[in-house]
Amino acid sequence: MNAITDDKINNGLKNAVTQILNILPEFTDKFPKAYSEGNFYSATENVDWTTGFWTGEIWLAYEYVTSHESEFEAGAAEKLKNAGLTQVKSFLHRIDNKIEVDHHDMGFLYSPSCVAGYKLTGSEDGKEAAIKAADQLLTRYHPVGEFLQAWGPMDQPENYRLIIDCLNNLPLLYWASDVTGDSKYREIADKHINTAVNNVIRDDYSTWHTFFFDMETGAAHHGATCQGYRDGSAWARGQAWGVYGLATAYRYTKREEYIPLFKNVTKYFLDHLPKDLVPYWDLEFTDGDDQPRDSSSASIAACGMLEMSRWLDKDEAEYYINTAKEIINSVYENYAVSDFGKSNGLVLHSTYSNHSPYNTCNHYGVDECNIWGDYFYMEALTRLSKDWIQYW
Ligand code: GLY
Repeated sequence: MNAITDDKINNGLKNAVTQILNILPEFTDKFPKAYSEGNFYSATENVDWTTGFWTGEIWLAYEYVTSHESEFEAGAAEKLKNAGLTQVKSFLHRIDNKIEVDHHDMGFLYSPSCVAGYKLTGSEDGKEAAIKAADQLLTRYHPVGEFLQAWGPMDQPENYRLIIDCLNNLPLLYWASDVTGDSKYREIADKHINTAVNNVIRDDYSTWHTFFFDMETGAAHHGATCQGYRDGSAWARGQAWGVYGLATAYRYTKREEYIPLFKNVTKYFLDHLPKDLVPYWDLEFTDGDDQPRDSSSASIAACGMLEMSRWLDKDEAEYYINTAKEIINSVYENYAVSDFGKSNGLVLHSTYSNHSPYNTCNHYGVDECNIWGDYFYMEALTRLSKDWIQYW
């Protein structure tokens, strides 16, 4: 397979920024919905778990424009910065008023929006909002079982579970410990990672989407899928969250045992890709199956490999960088939006939630753009273009 070239990386970022500037007037006071319909996002309030990705796209665009000013209309950087800061205020309002924050997705919401806004512009609103969001995330912690509960009320056995996605909520906690000097955030993140990796990774290094614990004793109970095809299969995005989550777990803890876990979970993901390196929505499916893709998983896993390459020796790092470049080349060539008349998103052919005979999932956002797929495609291109100051 071909690795993406520097010219394509630059072109991919330029296209993405152009699209973001096109739609910014519609999505400054509002946010794109989690998924498109007919490849077009409509506008929503700041209520879903996904709105931070759009603000993250604005910050990535701002970064790109500030170093390529002559390629864009005058004032583009200022426009993006102002839009990003407007949205940071919306996130501060959301956490102050506890609007739809009774779940674990505080990291997905507040890292690419408010932590990024603080790191890039020194926004005090961003810092305050992100610390409050980290405090909110701590309220999801169960000492019995030592994990952060994903969804639902905290006192019900049917909700006593973590999900693999949560690994990517934890950078918010490490950041909060760094800026406040209070180790409580880091300590809980360390415990959650330990519990998660000991339970969601199966013997063959495929992963459970969700894992339940006994409410009385905290003992491991059973794994189950929510968004995957069936309980024993590997939901593509869950496996991708595992790849990226293990990379950030190593980054923040430096626990050596996470390195082989990263390598093996990544190998399982790579071994189950179709020819064009962009997975079907569940790794059970491959070329020839009449099933939708989830292009967002390709970009998430590529970001995880690029993150981990920062912590490995040269030869291993080169392997993961090159693999990420091959995956992102395929996303760029075959999935990225090139005709803005056909979509207001960045990447086509993702799957949010696909109903199967063996899961209880809703059916929406299937073979559509989704906002995290757009965000992680841009993050991967940005990581490939420079030494990126991480939002996570
Ligand atoms: N974290 C939810 C999802 O990946 O769909």
